[in-house]
Amino acid sequence: MTILVTGGAGYIGSHTVKLLRSLGRDVVAFDSLERGNRASLLGAPLVVGEIADEDLIERTCRDHGVTDIVHFAAYKSAGESMQRPGMYWRNNVQGTVHLLEGALRAGVTRLVFSSSAAVYGNPVHVPVDETAPLRPENVYAETKVVMERVISWYGTTHGLRWASLRYFNAAGAADDGTIGEDWSITTNLVPLVMKAALGASGPVLVFGNDYPTADGTGVRDYIHVEDLATAHVAAIDHLMAGHGSINVNLGTGHGSSVLEVLAATERASGTPVPYEIVARRPGDPAMVYADSTLAERVLRWKASRSLEEIVTSAYLWHSKR
Ligand code: WQD
Repeated sequence: MTILVTGGAGYIGSHTVKLLRSLGRDVVAFDSLERGNRASLLGAPLVVGEIADEDLIERTCRDHGVTDIVHFAAYKSAGESMQRPGMYWRNNVQGTVHLLEGALRAGVTRLVFSSSAAVYGNPVHVPVDETAPLRPENVYAETKVVMERVISWYGTTHGLRWASLRYFNAAGAADDGTIGEDWSITTNLVPLVMKAALGASGPVLVFGNDYPTADGTGVRDYIHVEDLATAHVAAIDHLMAGHGSINVNLGTGHGSSVLEVLAATERASGTPVPYEIVARRPGDPAMVYADSTLAERVLRWKASRSLEEIVTSAYLWHSKR
């Protein structure tokens, strides 16, 4: 009953590996280490390779007695995906096909997939539930839609059972300060706020304060990475218990503005965080937050960490590095 975690040395992957091990589950991480970091595995077993290497996937699954896969391995930068789309189609979509072919050959029948709220694009209604139309606005988001479809079709053709987890804005770090999100390889708000708070960059550039939101800045559903890790365990257990495949949102159901993230960080760090209001970032929606009731009902999972806990954990981790 070993769980193979592709992209296990990445941000959300490493937090999931850590949680699974703390629960006494057998885990093997699979990562190319192109963007992952070996140290973030905290000593978990690792196979270094490409998910597109079908034979290696099959062999790894057989050698380790893999019964379940949690599939994180993918490129995840929306901006980069518009500059270098071929890289995204190949690694994310084609890679997923090879992963599935290799895993199915080894008899794996269950898969939890790292999807994204990016599949909804700019939603017409908030909160966003799983019935909202899929309207990806960049190549990265489209690869997540296509990967969801590919996985679902393997359910039809091969009996694979799956859970696609659509994350809202993952943020924060492990409570014990061991792992977190490297700010050198991200464009996401929370790590950039930490960088500014710790004086490692200039002011945070706030992309627009003229949105139709309470304080004019963009509103997102920030979810603690350890809450996300817990949801993966719930999804694995859901499939292991024999339940059916699902698409499910993972968010808190609550939105926070950019200025609220800055204020929470000031409280956590005890120092002012410099920021500057600049123009809107093209393509940014005003407000996105999840309807997460399906996760509560089907997975019996609910996010438990507040924005305060997200920024406190992130600040702790970044300040120790
Ligand atoms: C959050 C808010 C910005 C940076 C992206 C991807 C999405 C998903 C999560 C994976 C927005 C504002 C940001 C900055 C700012 N990833 N902001 N200054 O855009 O909601 O989602 O990450 O699936 O696919 O698109 O996250 O962290 O970039 O932005 O003012 O320097 O912070 O405008 O309101 P986003 P983000």
